[in-house]
Amino acid sequence: MKAIKSIDDIRKRVKSLREDGKTIGFVPTMGALHEGHLSLFRLAQQHADEVVASIYVNPEQFAPGEDFEEYPRELDDDLAKCKEEGVAAVFAPSDNIMYSGRQYLSIEVDELNKYMDGGSRPGFFEGILLIVNKLFNIIEPDIAVFGQKDIQQFRILQQMVKEFNHDVQLVMGPIKRANDGLALSSRNAYLDAEQRKLAPGLYRSLQYVSKQIEEGAKNIQLLLDHQKSELEEKGFKIDYLNLFSFGTMAPVEEIEYDNKYLLAGAVYLGETRLIDNCIIEK
Ligand code: PAF
Repeated sequence: MKAIKSIDDIRKRVKSLREDGKTIGFVPTMGALHEGHLSLFRLAQQHADEVVASIYVNPEQFAPGEDFEEYPRELDDDLAKCKEEGVAAVFAPSDNIMYSGRQYLSIEVDELNKYMDGGSRPGFFEGILLIVNKLFNIIEPDIAVFGQKDIQQFRILQQMVKEFNHDVQLVMGPIKRANDGLALSSRNAYLDAEQRKLAPGLYRSLQYVSKQIEEGAKNIQLLLDHQKSELEEKGFKIDYLNLFSFGTMAPVEEIEYDNKYLLAGAVYLGETRLIDNCIIEK
């Protein structure tokens, strides 16, 4: 399987699939594909006739000092995995193609961006909106699949689709986990053996608090503070660990009925940033 590099060529490929009467499911990725991505391809196959993937490490969503240079790039392996999964086409453009010439326009995100990853990584979601907006305009998929691990991304993209009138249905794929509970991520490759053993601690903390909430716990902040201290003692550096409203992505103190929440955390083990979340529906 060969990567399609140019916008014209991927448009032609998608057009010919459409001329054969196929609907298109799109899975945008940054490559270094793991079982989590493959599960998104399989989910896309349940919602559309053919799957188109993109593999592109988008420089606009990395702030200076983040891991843009180190981010794993494994195009040949990725293409073999796509072929095995029956992906119909892979769009893997270069920076010159995606950002040709000076870019005069940008997209701003309002309050949905204030906390969680948006609060900690300035410019992150603006970069994501820019690239996904471009990709949606190029591929024009019927559905697009994104993983729950990046839940704030999903929520902000939902808003983008609504406000920019993209004619696409977004589907959220559940988090894929290793046997010990660690959420699969391309960045897990940065962990050394000792950090890898510790890493599922974030999920255990989220699970513990989520269970307490299910069982009617009221003082959620106390529970979270306790989990933060435990994680810190084990060597994690906490970016955030909190309960958020799914609608507004802002922290909430209390659970109300008929609402959707997220227990979400971002932590560092050494230089590696790990994120994870559980959805809580009441
Ligand atoms: O979730 C990701 O891998 C990226 O943020 C995405 C959606 C491919 C945009 O670069």
